[in-house]
Amino acid sequence: MDYFEIEGKNQLFGDVDISGAKNAVLPLMAASILNTNQLTISNVPNLSDSITMSDLLKGMGSEVDLSSGKIHINSQSLNNPYAPYDLVRTMRASFYVLGPLLAKFGEAKVSLPGGCAWGPRPVDFHIEGIKQLGATVDLEEGYIIAKSNQLKGNKIVFPKISVGATGNVLMASILADGDTEIHNAAAEPEIQQLCHFLNSMGAKISGIGTNILQIEGVTSLQNVDSVDVIPDRIEAGTFLMGVAATGGEVKLNKVNPDHLKTIISCLEHANVNIRVENDSITILSDGNINPYDIETNEYPGFATDLQAQWMLLMSVASGDSTLKENIYFDRFNHVPELNRLGCDISVDLKTATASIKGQRKLIAANVTSTDLRASACLILAALCAEGNSTINRVYHIDRGYDKIEEKLSKIGAKIIRKK
Ligand code: UD1
Repeated sequence: MDYFEIEGKNQLFGDVDISGAKNAVLPLMAASILNTNQLTISNVPNLSDSITMSDLLKGMGSEVDLSSGKIHINSQSLNNPYAPYDLVRTMRASFYVLGPLLAKFGEAKVSLPGGCAWGPRPVDFHIEGIKQLGATVDLEEGYIIAKSNQLKGNKIVFPKISVGATGNVLMASILADGDTEIHNAAAEPEIQQLCHFLNSMGAKISGIGTNILQIEGVTSLQNVDSVDVIPDRIEAGTFLMGVAATGGEVKLNKVNPDHLKTIISCLEHANVNIRVENDSITILSDGNINPYDIETNEYPGFATDLQAQWMLLMSVASGDSTLKENIYFDRFNHVPELNRLGCDISVDLKTATASIKGQRKLIAANVTSTDLRASACLILAALCAEGNSTINRVYHIDRGYDKIEEKLSKIGAKIIRKK
């Protein structure tokens, strides 16, 4: 199993190119089910999750060809609306195929995703949403069997905002008979991109980027032959927090600064200097960080996928701070591992709030990743720590970060992948 060896205490200088967004490419690949012919997706990050989604589509009959930075998907031969447990359990986003399969074939058999490193993460909103569009849904041996001869538009109100349920129900609704309204829809840039992509196929979605989406059902869609994935705001945020913590000056290229407004504002409150240009962000940090309390929230709030990295940054700040997690109340698996590197973080699970002691002198340790974003915060912590750390189970990071060790080495980090 691969692991990283990291020698800490180096400041970071130089340029990094940010990759396409994992959370955008996966729903776009699922949406290719609704395409009729060839689609080329570019700016595709080189991730194990992109490969898992390719395998899923291939299993359904699509022709999928992954070349560097691109995925070519031909959906003409897609004929098997089935998503097996083996693939869905390794990547929850596989569940995205439910909506488009149901819209295209009138039926779908998709494995329930099962648990996750930080709690149950249910899919009840997805299922209730497609039921409200008129589908029958049965559970057989861990599989959702959804059927409908003709989905019907409806008003759907999610109990809370869900990225996945919005994308899934949206893809089901575009070919429904009549109009659909989704309330508490996600406004995340990745969902916005999905909406624009579906509209380029002939769907009629409005309210994009707000929490109410209106969908006018259409009877058919046309083929779209290309789409370019938006930049990964979580990868960019991770690099920003890493440079803020270690100190240095780094320019991130190929980013969309509009998607990072909240993160940039929080970093500025933390005493980091940021220069924003059209599609780049330059960060300058002397490592003197001010404590700043944050809460995670749906977009445009502070992304939950960056809270672990923020905790590391706050551990090297000049005072104490708090972080309240409003999306996943028990997403704190990284805390004991951060504490092994010398952080002093305690969590009140009743209020989902972490108290982070600042001014910590981090010392190298042997630590284990528990999930994707936890791996990222451990890498950043090892970069700040005195001595040589080992990070185990980096397969988590390969799910969502494109060649992170190469990008970090290029800006001066001492990080080596070992087998
Ligand atoms: C997506 C992102 C993930 C990010 C998360 C929150 C992808 C592939 N993944 O995950 O990186 O951390 O958004 O920004 O885009 N919920 C339910 N029932 C449901 C669905 C969700 O109770 O049926 C709850 C969840 O437990 C959570 C909240 O809704 O508390 C938001 O989750 P959701 O937005 O659905 O997360 P994902 O789409 O799985």
